[in-house]
Amino acid sequence: MCGITGIVSLDLDNIGDLLVTCGRKLTYRGYDSVGVAAVQNNVVDLRKDVGTIEEVNKRLGLSSMRGDRGIIQLRWATYGAPTRTNAQPHFGCQEVFYGAHNGNIHNYYEYKQELIETGHIVRSENDGELCVHAVDKYYEQTGDMFEAVRLSTRDLKGAFAFAVGRADAQEIYAVKMGSSLVAGVDKNITIVSSDLPSILPVTRNVIYLRDGEMLRLTPHDVKVFRIEDGKELDRPVELSNIDINAAEKGGFPHFMLKEINEQPKVAQDLLGILDGGNIEKWAGLIEEASRVYLVACGSSYNAGMVGTYYFNRLAGLPILPAIGGQFIPMYGATLDDDSLCILVSQSGETKDILNVLNLVRENNLGKTLGVVNVIGSTLMFNADSYIPMGCGYEVSVPATKTYFSQTIIFAYLSAMLGKRNGTLDESEANRFLNLLRNDLPRLTRETIDHTGILAKMLAKTLMDANDLYCLGYGLTDGVAREGALKIKEICYNHCEGMYSSEFKHGPLSIVTNDYPVIFVTTTEDSWMVINHINEVSCRGGRTIIVGEQEEKLEPYVKKEIDYLTVPKTDVLLNPLLDVIPLQLLSYYLSVDLGINPDQPRNLSKTLTVD
Ligand code: BG6
Repeated sequence: MCGITGIVSLDLDNIGDLLVTCGRKLTYRGYDSVGVAAVQNNVVDLRKDVGTIEEVNKRLGLSSMRGDRGIIQLRWATYGAPTRTNAQPHFGCQEVFYGAHNGNIHNYYEYKQELIETGHIVRSENDGELCVHAVDKYYEQTGDMFEAVRLSTRDLKGAFAFAVGRADAQEIYAVKMGSSLVAGVDKNITIVSSDLPSILPVTRNVIYLRDGEMLRLTPHDVKVFRIEDGKELDRPVELSNIDINAAEKGGFPHFMLKEINEQPKVAQDLLGILDGGNIEKWAGLIEEASRVYLVACGSSYNAGMVGTYYFNRLAGLPILPAIGGQFIPMYGATLDDDSLCILVSQSGETKDILNVLNLVRENNLGKTLGVVNVIGSTLMFNADSYIPMGCGYEVSVPATKTYFSQTIIFAYLSAMLGKRNGTLDESEANRFLNLLRNDLPRLTRETIDHTGILAKMLAKTLMDANDLYCLGYGLTDGVAREGALKIKEICYNHCEGMYSSEFKHGPLSIVTNDYPVIFVTTTEDSWMVINHINEVSCRGGRTIIVGEQEEKLEPYVKKEIDYLTVPKTDVLLNPLLDVIPLQLLSYYLSVDLGINPDQPRNLSKTLTVD
């Protein structure tokens, strides 16, 4: 997935500086390569190379590029290796049309061939270049830029968004066809970008877009059109109140540590949002459905796994969890008009999730309920209803506060559903809901403070652990998977998350003396988990435990730092708190290994590609 930002101003002459400032807000979308096309006196200066925005800016002087308009693109490679030639933006045949895209052009190979056969000079292996050639092609046929952009989308298949300009015109066009795009307008300047944080350095006057729409940016206004027939649409300008500082580190060394420390506030704010939310609609969708699936990717899937145990435990509801890309081949044929897909995606743009959303909507296969963080995202606009995660922007590529928010939402929703369907009596449901409202923020803070130092010390002892397991049971199944994913994502170690009772059926063979296995426990499951711990420790394995302090578990940890204890509380809060020491462990281990946890290699915050 990539990030694009285009700006048109009336009279700026240092557009490079502003493009880099806005582009920095998209770093989490891609750091394989970066490029800027800046236009001054109808001449396009195009500079691009592999590396992060800071590296390429230092090497090529992006910030010093002159002009009143231009486009910046940050790339996460899909089609074409991360090379200078494959970096974006791209030219068309001549140095007249310039543009960049985010997403995937599925008919890349055949369309590239078609363009070459009709005389186009295609320079790269990157699908984004074809967007510029497509406009070039139709401009040659129509002589009209608006029509050229509109018609270009007929040739391009897939899910994408692109921005394109012509050297001699003080305007930029943009197209939204399945990837995120948002615009902004202020006095004598307009901007379009993949994400809102990149708009905010210019303006808070925001225009949200929908798929199948295109934009024309001039120095004075942003006009929105329907691609299908070119009809101009009336899109209101909305004032965004997102905190621009949220995209800064606030004194922390990394966004990841900042966002872990924001979790007490996430808990505080979220319960207010949920209490003020549309529980009737959300619960109704679940109660009316004959079958409910929960579909997500990455950390969102792990949160959903925690959710399925809460739904069972508190509401007696079978919710089938499925990984985004797995859902259609695994359950697609079982959908019908009274099934419900709970689609969990903090970005609201993950292509694996949008594929399911589109399948359901295009075939009337029941309803969808989004659980989404980014306001203005495709999932937010197109689900039948959505539950806001209320976390503010999460900049660090590895998810922390957004995962935390999702697990709280599922705990809350399960308790509400249990109260409504009688699985929980009123007093029990209200007791738990009040624990979420009144105790969880404080307990989250205490857990961060108490386990931070332990995790930091434990990390030092795992520097050479290239291979380990993280096991959960019942309510902590998803928590252990999330802890394992964090270690994989930002420490580049192989850490497998799995169910602890399953470990003896094969994986146990990996255990030799001192082999590390992390067990994530709750006070009500430790009687069972102690068997699994024993199976490892009696073979010399190193057992590391995460959970409340329990006397019966103490004999199984060889060193004090091998027991990351969370505050004593109701067992139903254990799964929410147990993830925190694992987040901190992976963070400190990553930093000790000299890795930047915010931008782990090969990864991206949101994957808008298949
Ligand atoms: C991955 C991210 O690309 O997508 C993960 O690196 C994330 O951090 C996963 O959990 C799912 O993203 P989303 O936006 O659908 O929740």
